[in-house]
Amino acid sequence: MNLLNLRKQAKQQFKELGIDTEDADFIIAETLNVPRTELPLINELTPKQTKQILKHINERKNKKPVSKIFKRAYFYGLKFKINNKVLSPRQDSEILIETALKYIKQNKIKSVLDLCTGSGCLAIAIKKNADVMLQAADISQAALRLAKTNAKLNDVEIKFVKSNMLTKIKNKFNLIVSNPPYIPTHEINLLEDEVKKFDPILALDGGKTGLDFYKIINDTAIKNLTPDGMLILEIGNEQKDDVINMFSNFKFVECVPDYGGLNRVLVFKLNKTET
Ligand SMILES: C[S@@+](CC[C@H](N)C(=O)[O-])C[C@H]1O[C@@H](n2cnc3c(N)ncnc32)[C@H](O)[C@@H]1O
Repeated sequence: MNLLNLRKQAKQQFKELGIDTEDADFIIAETLNVPRTELPLINELTPKQTKQILKHINERKNKKPVSKIFKRAYFYGLKFKINNKVLSPRQDSEILIETALKYIKQNKIKSVLDLCTGSGCLAIAIKKNADVMLQAADISQAALRLAKTNAKLNDVEIKFVKSNMLTKIKNKFNLIVSNPPYIPTHEINLLEDEVKKFDPILALDGGKTGLDFYKIINDTAIKNLTPDGMLILEIGNEQKDDVINMFSNFKFVECVPDYGGLNRVLVFKLNKTET
């Protein structure tokens, strides 16, 4: 089949379905294993290539995200393996990395825990860019297996622990980062198909109000923080005030918006004098 025709056809179909038309070129380039810039240089596809590309285009038309089609994702300039047991890393979360790296440098932070690590993307991006001791925890054994593979793939040393929130975490850290599940249960059905059909419910469901995991962190994180310890948490855009009000055991430092201008990251420090 002629590649130009296939590209045009796929883009038109994606447009009609409200899918980003850029995904067509991404899918074709990934399938052919060539940089996107080389696509205009290719004229004819072999029947096998055509079949593979059409299979992936159809998967995308059924709302499967490209990260789940190709079982890989890019986050903070790094490559990660992805499967249906973990949340696909979100670009929105890159601001959490920027924020963590800022405080690590500023406060000479030496130890970090990534709670609810999933694919390991936050832990690995931090470890890759800072000289810190890193531990990462998740309740899902399948997620931890993938996170370990991703740590190896990115050549970083991280200790992974299976733990229901902080229950199995022994050490104290200068910083805990976390992107916990934070979607209110009743809103999960309203999410776009890409998320509700292909990301695991365990990574999304934050309980009735979406705030269950923040409450656990406020109630328990003290035992795993050094006296000058900090928390850097991802939140949903509308959760800023509720989470700040809930964090009675901590001093609020700042709210950092993501690149789309939405409230995305909250920074707290242990308010030792008032505890
Ligand atoms: C929103 S995902 C975040 C994944 C990853 N940190 C990221 O930013 O892409 C939340 C993660 O929390 C994990 N999780 C859910 N309940 C948990 C619990 N009780 N204790 C520890 N981890 C939990 C899920 O398995 C999932 O990997």
